Amino acid sequence: MNRKRLNVAVDGHSSSGKSTLAQQVARAMHYMYIDTGAMYRAATLFAMKERLVTTTEVKTEALEKALDRMYLQFRFNPASGVSEIHLNGTNVEREIRTMEVAKRVSLVAAVPAVRKKLVTLQQRMAEDGGVVMDGRDIGTVVMPDAEVKFFLTASPEVRAQRRLEELVASGKETKYEEVLENLLLRDRIDSTRATSPLRQADDAVVLDNSELTLDEQFDFMLTTIRKRLEELA
Ligand code: DC
Repeated sequence: MNRKRLNVAVDGHSSSGKSTLAQQVARAMHYMYIDTGAMYRAATLFAMKERLVTTTEVKTEALEKALDRMYLQFRFNPASGVSEIHLNGTNVEREIRTMEVAKRVSLVAAVPAVRKKLVTLQQRMAEDGGVVMDGRDIGTVVMPDAEVKFFLTASPEVRAQRRLEELVASGKETKYEEVLENLLLRDRIDSTRATSPLRQADDAVVLDNSELTLDEQFDFMLTTIRKRLEELA
């Protein structure tokens, strides 16, 4: 059976469960999973190391120049079973998941030169199909021709609770209020920035998962993809 390998876009708000689901779907379909949030987080870490971003300000022009020295790459880790992000050769998968990075990432992700560089990389990765990519602008900008597009969302309170549990599980002490505040702020910056704001693609399937289990969402996504595969067969 020689079936076409589709591209699947998974967009949505912060902590809407995108990554977990996109990862599970990729594994089930034997597709490649690409976490574009990890790329923006790694770019933020790079800007932090270069001292070009604070929690309130980013030095746009200096960062644009420095980007030539930023090399991002995903490498498969057989131990974890996922591809992990590397910044200039170093695995930064853990380092990018801190509140320090979370507090600065929306500023860095709003810099047009950063988006241009990362979008080009992402489009190259999706060239041959068979990719599940999660982010904010995947269905609208990165892969407007993706055969399947999902837009995931949930109430801010549900998302903050999920994020808090993730942070606590990885040993990071944080308050619920701080997480909720950061999330609402990121929602606002991500949705109102001039370049590629978070926006639902017209042809995306919307999934509000406040009241759905992971299994229910996973089943729904797989069914949707398989239906599309049959339509295109
Ligand atoms: O999915 P995440 O929370 O790891 O993403 C981190 C940040 O990166 C988020 O605040 C928005 C930004 N982002 C983006 O602007 N475009 C993407 N395609 C993915 C993430």
